[in-house]
Amino acid sequence: MENNLPPKVLKIARMGHPALRQRAREVTDPTSPIVRKVVDDMIETAKDFGSYSGLAAPQVHIPLRIILIHVPKERCDEMDPEGFPLTAMINLTIEPLTDKQHVGWEGCMSVPGMMGRVARFTHIALSYQALDGKMVSREAKGYLARVIQHECDHLDGILYPQRMTDFGKFGFMDEIVRYTMKPKKTAENTPITPH
Ligand code: NI
Repeated sequence: MENNLPPKVLKIARMGHPALRQRAREVTDPTSPIVRKVVDDMIETAKDFGSYSGLAAPQVHIPLRIILIHVPKERCDEMDPEGFPLTAMINLTIEPLTDKQHVGWEGCMSVPGMMGRVARFTHIALSYQALDGKMVSREAKGYLARVIQHECDHLDGILYPQRMTDFGKFGFMDEIVRYTMKPKKTAENTPITPH
């Protein structure tokens, strides 16, 4: 019955809410209609937000290990020349494939209006279950790897400011885009989309 309802926009928890601080639970059956409903509502919520790269279920008060990832081709490397299409990842696990980290800008729907610089591994391996229950294993680099690490942190109750080492590089997105990014139009400085 519930599953026949149209998808709805869910409330996004903001930094400080306990929903963002707990470890999310594994999903026992990724093929269940309840999981499909959660994913549909997450997609509706992300679309309603506007421009985004990812969303984790704990951000919409659902303590399950489910994330969405969506990265346009301009932000993907040669591994995904057409971009990374909107994908639901269930029971995601990641592992760095290098010691190398890159410091880049991040934003988060749960920390609205803000952005900061965070070090992330440049190359990771990931495994997750798709909505049909099948295991998917692959690698990711660059911005895609960054977004996946950011979402994976949400599943463990960690927000990106907790990963920051220099709070001189934290501030309001509109001011940083205006004063820090505009003079230097490089790929490195492309404004981020919140996750
Ligand atoms: Ni986030």
